[in-house]
Amino acid sequence: MTRTATYLSLAGIELDRDQPRSLQQQLYDALREMILSGQLPAGTRIPPTRALCTELEVSRITVVTAIKQLTSEGYVHGIPGRGTFVAEALPESMLTMDAEPTSPEATPLTHRLSKRGAAIVSYPMEAPTVSHIFQPGVPDVTQFPWHIWQRIVTRILKTYSPHDVGYADAAGYSPLREAIAKHVQITRRVRCTPEQVIITTGTQQAIYLTAQLLLEPGDKAWLENPGYIGAVGALQAAEVTLVPVPVDQGGLDVSAGIARAADAKLAYVTPSHQYPNGGTLDLTRRMQLLEWAKAANAFLIEDDYDSEFRYTGHPLASLQGLDQHQRVIYIGTFSKTLFPGLRLGYAIVPPGLQTAFATARSNLDRGSEWMSQKALSEFMAEGHFVRHIRRMRTLYGYRQQVLIEALQQECADWLSVEPAPAGLHLMGKFKHAISDQRVAEQLRTVGIAAPALARYTIAPLDYGGLVFGYGATDEGEIRASVRKLRKIFEEEGMRNG
Ligand SMILES: Cc1ncc(COP(=O)(O)O)c(C=O)c1O
Repeated sequence: MTRTATYLSLAGIELDRDQPRSLQQQLYDALREMILSGQLPAGTRIPPTRALCTELEVSRITVVTAIKQLTSEGYVHGIPGRGTFVAEALPESMLTMDAEPTSPEATPLTHRLSKRGAAIVSYPMEAPTVSHIFQPGVPDVTQFPWHIWQRIVTRILKTYSPHDVGYADAAGYSPLREAIAKHVQITRRVRCTPEQVIITTGTQQAIYLTAQLLLEPGDKAWLENPGYIGAVGALQAAEVTLVPVPVDQGGLDVSAGIARAADAKLAYVTPSHQYPNGGTLDLTRRMQLLEWAKAANAFLIEDDYDSEFRYTGHPLASLQGLDQHQRVIYIGTFSKTLFPGLRLGYAIVPPGLQTAFATARSNLDRGSEWMSQKALSEFMAEGHFVRHIRRMRTLYGYRQQVLIEALQQECADWLSVEPAPAGLHLMGKFKHAISDQRVAEQLRTVGIAAPALARYTIAPLDYGGLVFGYGATDEGEIRASVRKLRKIFEEEGMRNG
């Protein structure tokens, strides 16, 4: 290989003795930049150490250290008896891919999805919205005690052992599983051991795992209508046939479900607080549902996503706590109690299924990440979890009250709304035939994220409405936004009449 005879021009190198960076670091940076910018092409010979010392008026050790570092990182290499040369292949080129050509021929094809793939994406969940105002399902993360979380995380980073950060039990970090088991035993009368608690990346994954493990393609699964659209994709991934089952103020209409598909193999339900209409499944229906599941050899997914925030009365015991026949997969999440980005939830599975769920987590994704599980278990053990819930319950209860008052004052001509015993959202039912999608669209244009009820359906409803998330919307925002809604209703009224 012929070597370029040119010597490096040192004109671009300026070393400043007053800078905090050492002279050798400055020389290293300057040479590296000249190499990367092409000012020093591959094969250029670096002047001998002595020449560099004289020219730059620095000590030999400064030059030798800078060149050594460039050599060890692969920017230059020495050839015995000849000198030091800029490398042919720079380290950066090994770390970056060539840029994709952008000619029209290179436009990506729209790939055909499998039937299953198309089903998974058929009902997109509400995209993250530009506004937090009335966005359903989100807590007020500004109220989270971040300073405590930071203290716990820092302590963990200072004290962890190599054993902690290796491959671990994919069912989850055991102190966290123990803390969750204790929490749900006390608050929800769930009957379980810590071994039955499978940590997941949230509700979504718990539904997905349940469907994958327990359903055959073509099996029927009941879904509340209106209901949690997030469950649709996770269930469709198992290639099941979804059966919409109507709901009312008493939650899922179990008799209607039996009339439509007594042979279904799964029912997804939100018995504590129906999503989104807010009803609570009464005891008679709970028993009816459990009996049906036993007779049909079906499973029930009990999504208990927000029952920690209960404002009135005593919560009914969970379905899981009433179940005598191991039919219930009880699912909980930290997305509402703490923050959605934590991506931690759990499935509490019948004893006969705990190994299958743990193995599935291991085989599919090796389990959840260690740091947040450990931080959360310490957050719970130190009592912060329960304290945070207590504090937030007061705040959310107040926000719900403000929202109801504002809606009754401003929008009673168009919308009826009932207090909800629990949760972070309210459903407002339209009193007239107005398109909820159109109203929601107009709300979005003024920065309000309340979705149309139609977004929560897999079969059309004969009424419309809006879903108001009040968790992350403060009092002032609630009042101002309800006034904007009133204006939209007035304009709609003029359009229609
Ligand atoms: C009914 C219901 N279940 C569960 C969740 C939480 O899902 P994840 O735990 O996957 O964040 C939500 C969030 O909006 C929800 O509305």
